[in-house]
Amino acid sequence: MEAGEITNVVVVGSGVMGAGIAQVFAQEGFSVALNDVSGEVLEKAKGRILDGLSLLESGGLLSKKTAKEAAGRISYVTDIETVKDVDMVMEAVWEKIEIKHELFKKLDGLFSPGVILASNTSGISISRIASVTKNPGRVVGMHWWNPPYIIPVIEVIRGEQTEEMVIRTVRLLVERLKKKPVMVNKDVPGFLGNRMQYALMREAVSLLENGVATAEDIDTMVKAGFGFKFPVIGPLETIDMAGMDIFYNVSKYLYGELDDTKTAQKIVEKKAKENKLGQKTGEGFYDYSKTDIKSLNKERVDRYIKIMKDLGY
Ligand SMILES: NC(=O)c1ccc[n+]([C@@H]2O[C@H](COP(=O)([O-])OP(=O)(O)OC[C@H]3O[C@@H](n4cnc5c(N)ncnc54)[C@H](O)[C@@H]3O)[C@@H](O)[C@H]2O)c1
Repeated sequence: MEAGEITNVVVVGSGVMGAGIAQVFAQEGFSVALNDVSGEVLEKAKGRILDGLSLLESGGLLSKKTAKEAAGRISYVTDIETVKDVDMVMEAVWEKIEIKHELFKKLDGLFSPGVILASNTSGISISRIASVTKNPGRVVGMHWWNPPYIIPVIEVIRGEQTEEMVIRTVRLLVERLKKKPVMVNKDVPGFLGNRMQYALMREAVSLLENGVATAEDIDTMVKAGFGFKFPVIGPLETIDMAGMDIFYNVSKYLYGELDDTKTAQKIVEKKAKENKLGQKTGEGFYDYSKTDIKSLNKERVDRYIKIMKDLGY
């Protein structure tokens, strides 16, 4: 299956990610069947898709006509076996290996070997997901970031047995979706993005736990400091700009000082056990008890949209 031949996509799982992913495919002209376990869940997903389209429309990224046409390209199905003419399946169900295994076994039996099976797993090995199928060559990782209709990058992950043709096709598909592909050549836990993101978050938590700075100042350090540069230059470009000699010398004394804990830190474990889960329970590192979370997140999306436009995404 060549990228240009893909027109009909099934997205399995209509939660936070699946709904947003279905929206992006539909925006770019694909016919999408969005599948989940019940009509009620799908109805909620439809509401989120319409909200997402109207956010992009009000931000000037989509015309009213395109948004309306995109909404019309998505059908909502509870029984995946009723979907005909499938070119690829994009899985976005719960992050549990047993659930993904059961699903991939079913998909492998249901669709002909030319149909690409992509997983949006955050960190489960693609090879492990593919291991229950008879055609592991067509199983590939396609890791979208949240919210899928905003964040430009998609990681394309090669499992041990993923066919070269499938990798090439998915890369072109990502470009057709007007997203930025990054190719992950080895099926390592956390792929590219989460490995780097978690390295930073581990250090941020450690700085907070050790009383080096407040949560606000740690976040400001990233947002108004080195993170401010990241939409323009990445970490390796930063090293080249500063000089390898400087990086070499600083690495020699600083690496040994950085947090290298192998398990979740005490502060994280304590908060998780006390149900201080962040926005969803009203408290995490910050107190959200008096915050209108919906407005806060809408304001953040509006700001992302401005940045996307400035950067030409
Ligand atoms: N939330 C994120 O920020 C994020 C980012 C990147 C990747 N991911 C990954 O994407 C996947 C989905 O995450 P999410 O946050 O959208 O989860 P979610 O809990 O919001 O949604 C999962 C959906 O899958 C459905 N589901 C479960 N089993 C199913 C099955 N057998 N058939 C059909 N539908 C089924 C559930 O009913 C639910 O609606 C996970 O693998 C997750 O790790 C999540």
